[in-house]
Amino acid sequence: WSNLKGRHFLTLRDYSESEIAQLLWTAKDLKARHAQDRLLSYRPLEGHSLGMIFEKRSTRTRVSTETGFFLLGGQPVFLSPQDVHLGTNESLPDTAKVLSGFCDAVLARVYAHDSLMTLSEHSSVPIVNGLSDQYHPLQVLADFLTAYENFGHLNGLVWAFVGDGDNNMTHSLMMGCPKLGMSIRIASPAGYDPNPAVVQDARELSRQYGTQLVLTRDPAEAVRGADVIVTDTFVSMGREAEKERRLKDFKGFQVNSNLVAHAKPRWVFMHCLPRKQEEVTDDIFYDSKRSLVWPESHNRKCTVGRY
Ligand code: CP
Ligand code: NVA
Repeated sequence: WSNLKGRHFLTLRDYSESEIAQLLWTAKDLKARHAQDRLLSYRPLEGHSLGMIFEKRSTRTRVSTETGFFLLGGQPVFLSPQDVHLGTNESLPDTAKVLSGFCDAVLARVYAHDSLMTLSEHSSVPIVNGLSDQYHPLQVLADFLTAYENFGHLNGLVWAFVGDGDNNMTHSLMMGCPKLGMSIRIASPAGYDPNPAVVQDARELSRQYGTQLVLTRDPAEAVRGADVIVTDTFVSMGREAEKERRLKDFKGFQVNSNLVAHAKPRWVFMHCLPRKQEEVTDDIFYDSKRSLVWPESHNRKCTVGRY
């Protein structure tokens, strides 16, 4: 086992195959302990505090982290832009230095991934990515755990992401899937390809781990033979001004019954939420017994990372 204590957690790119497996094992262990006695006899974070900087809204990341950290004996401190000087009155480096003296770790949800880099450079305690424009690694850990619980294994699974390629979820799947022996196929319209630097890294990882990385404009090609079908909003937080254009550009990229017919018979559907109807129809999202969206969201509770 690696000692992950003290490490920043900004992207799965920085974590090895065995370290990601270790994070998933920890999540499974926490989930089992919670089911047993609500973690009453397990308080590894007693005396620890977590600063939580949120530049954007959140339901799952905030509530799962606050309640999860508390259950483990620690104290979370939620800081919205209205509560903290950050950005208006105090620089990121200064904020990082001050919070390092108060907290044992800081979870931050930011617009620019660079803000996380700056925080991590100036913080003496671990910075955990609670979502940036580039990556959303905690969500992808929850997705991997959900897939594992469903299939009983991860190695060999094929993931199909249909929608915005230049997206935090897509990028995190691209970093995580190959390391766990899973292929990833991404269908996105022109103009919404994944970040080229992430594509380069993902190609290298896919070569190294013997998995497949496919980028296509055709949702059916991505979904053909897939085990897991994933989508996300077409209008991520911070992109609201582009909504009208995006909804036009993403026509044909909705996950619906015609599209899922191309997948393996045992396909499952996942979505990090919040969900809009344009990216997935109700009959898949709510009504299909292959939709894992609620267990997926609840798995955020035990995939809180390690500090
Ligand atoms: N999936 C996710 O991160 O949701 P929130 O924006 O509600 O935290
Ligand atoms: N891609 C979405 C994820 C929300 C959890 C966003 O950034 O808004």
